[in-house]
Amino acid sequence: MSDTPKEPFAGHKRLEKNITLLAVATFATVAIGGIVEIAPLFWIDNTIEKVEGMRPYTPLEQAGRDIYIREGCYTCHSQMIRPFRDEVERYGHYSLAAESMYDHPFQWGSKRTGPDLARVGGRYSDEWHVQHLTNPQSVVPESVMPQYGFLAENELQIGDPKATLTALSRVGVPYSKDDIAKAKDDMLAQANPEADAGDLATRYPKAQIRDFDGNPTRLTEMDALIAYLQMLGTLVDVDSAGPMEELAKEKGR
Ligand code: HEC
Repeated sequence: MSDTPKEPFAGHKRLEKNITLLAVATFATVAIGGIVEIAPLFWIDNTIEKVEGMRPYTPLEQAGRDIYIREGCYTCHSQMIRPFRDEVERYGHYSLAAESMYDHPFQWGSKRTGPDLARVGGRYSDEWHVQHLTNPQSVVPESVMPQYGFLAENELQIGDPKATLTALSRVGVPYSKDDIAKAKDDMLAQANPEADAGDLATRYPKAQIRDFDGNPTRLTEMDALIAYLQMLGTLVDVDSAGPMEELAKEKGR
């Protein structure tokens, strides 16, 4: 025994036999990988490339978004156009990360019983949306979409839009103090062309201010939902924003 040459990697043998040492060394090795991935996130402010035009939702759009989520529209509709030719041809420019940077919760996905809605804003008139939401089969006879006519009956429960905006600002949505203070007025003014919208359109560029559900005397859940649908994909001028513009041009958009 005594003349056995000294084993190479004696240290490794010790490591393999000592469970505590092995655990510590394993942890150290795995931690290096973790640190390399995680540490940069602490030093860069944002992982999302900024694009011009993106802004937080107006209180009315946000209320519409909440109804969209409450009604489970997301179980059939995604809001994420993937950078594949067929999707770009059908829905428009693929979605940019920045376009959903203020979404809580996000609406990405690929489960599509119905079409992707990321760029549905402006594609149809408000009247079309009222008609379609009330009775989808009257517009698309083979549609499996449920009927949501009751939204036009339901008075929009305004609740406390200030609280909603405050909560969102705590998770990083850049609402200003002014936006939060005026949340309720903004919400009422956006769906009422008679009202004085104040500086709503300055604080929320491209905000669409009008009655959405065809009934100017009431503020309904239909108003909020359509305000939300009509802004989807309208904020960023994507045709000048990325490599797919060639494809879009080819398509004649
Ligand atoms: C059971 C699945 C299902 C649910 C839930 C659903 N939809 Fe749909 N939706 C569809 C289908 C299928 C279509 C395509 C046929 C049609 O236009 O009705 C569609 C079409 C649409 C369109 C037209 C899109 C386009 O580009 O032509 C809009 C807008 C829309 N839905 C909004 C909504 C909203 C808002 C909700 C929630 C209130 C909702 N949908 C819930 C299945 C669904």
